[in-house]
Amino acid sequence: MPQLLEPFQLKQLRLRNRVVLAPMTRVSAEPEGTANELMRDYYQAFAEGGFGLLISEGIYTDTAFSQGYLNQPGLATDVQRDSWVPLVEAVHQSGAAFIAQLMHGGAQTQGNIHHARHVAPSAVQPEGSQLKFYGGEGPYATPAEISEEEIQEVIAGFAQAARHARDAGFDGVELHGANGYLLHEFMSAEFNQRTDRWGGDYQARLTLPLAVIKAVRDAVGEEFIVGMRLSQIMVTNSHLKWEGGVEEAKTRIAMLTAAGLDYLHTTEGDAAAPAFAEGPSLSAIAKASVSIPVIGNGGVKTGTQAQQLLDKGEMDMVAIGKAALANHDWPIRARDGDQMTEFDFAMLSPMATVTNELAWRGTNDRQATRQPV
Ligand SMILES: Cc1cc2nc3c(=O)[nH]c(=O)nc-3n(C[C@H](O)[C@H](O)[C@H](O)COP(=O)(O)O)c2cc1C
Repeated sequence: MPQLLEPFQLKQLRLRNRVVLAPMTRVSAEPEGTANELMRDYYQAFAEGGFGLLISEGIYTDTAFSQGYLNQPGLATDVQRDSWVPLVEAVHQSGAAFIAQLMHGGAQTQGNIHHARHVAPSAVQPEGSQLKFYGGEGPYATPAEISEEEIQEVIAGFAQAARHARDAGFDGVELHGANGYLLHEFMSAEFNQRTDRWGGDYQARLTLPLAVIKAVRDAVGEEFIVGMRLSQIMVTNSHLKWEGGVEEAKTRIAMLTAAGLDYLHTTEGDAAAPAFAEGPSLSAIAKASVSIPVIGNGGVKTGTQAQQLLDKGEMDMVAIGKAALANHDWPIRARDGDQMTEFDFAMLSPMATVTNELAWRGTNDRQATRQPV
């Protein structure tokens, strides 16, 4: 039986356990997208707290349209790449592996220092309001339909950012195909209404994600870890379901994996809940479709809950999000049977906060000077 706190082999990486920090945007980078000391201390706290693998917040990939939030870090430029080196070293020194999540904001973009205009597969306005805790306000803008030339820029951007991640010392990259950002939008029937080769039925709508996986793999070689995160829900709509049920879900997952992935990371509001009206969870569908490791995420608060998901064979590793923000030492607490602190949304402000034990420097000042989108 796989044990939560026992080592796990992810490709060439020997992880000290199966507990993963879920990717969480904290909008705490410098305005020009460089990582800083605040973020180093933030990530190191989770490594010291016993997580086997940290997945970074969504990092933007190019200086065109990928940036989604002000004060989001990038891996688009050499300067941004170099700024990550001390963070990666600190995390490694504290015994955890570190994977960079690469993200293109797409229609959910609400702050970009490089371009005022933003792009998505089709000119479909996301529902709801921009996220205030990421510095946004009011409804989302309607994006422009991305052009063929700009799609090529997206692909090249992911490849270059992955190279930068490798050169900065990261152990791998995770392509953000979840939560309603650009790659997810291309896979979605609601957001991708294109009639060219980038749109069509559910398999045709994988064309961009597949091209990105291939370009990234070509850029970083066979040794470097390349994973992908998938969800049904979007930041702007938590009720969306992939059409086609379990069988089409299996085909999508298998097609993406065959393009060159080393792991899959599924996320849902509740990792254990059926992906569709009934039947297996999304991570269980992934486990049944592919032989690469599956990280599952969503709503896990305690070590007992996480171990139960492993026992049921629903996933190989468990990613912890909000409960980790409330307990940066979640794995140690799980091991020792210690009480977990309840997550509270107040913990998201000031930015880059993990539990009240850690005082974060300068965040109030930075928030006060942040410009609205
Ligand atoms: C503050 C915050 C920021 C997040 N940012 C990201 C992100 O950058 N990339 C991503 O894939 N998911 C992001 N998520 C989603 C989490 O990774 C996770 O899927 C979600 O919180 C559900 O898991 P949980 O119940 O363990 O928190 C974010 C969640 C929170 C609370």
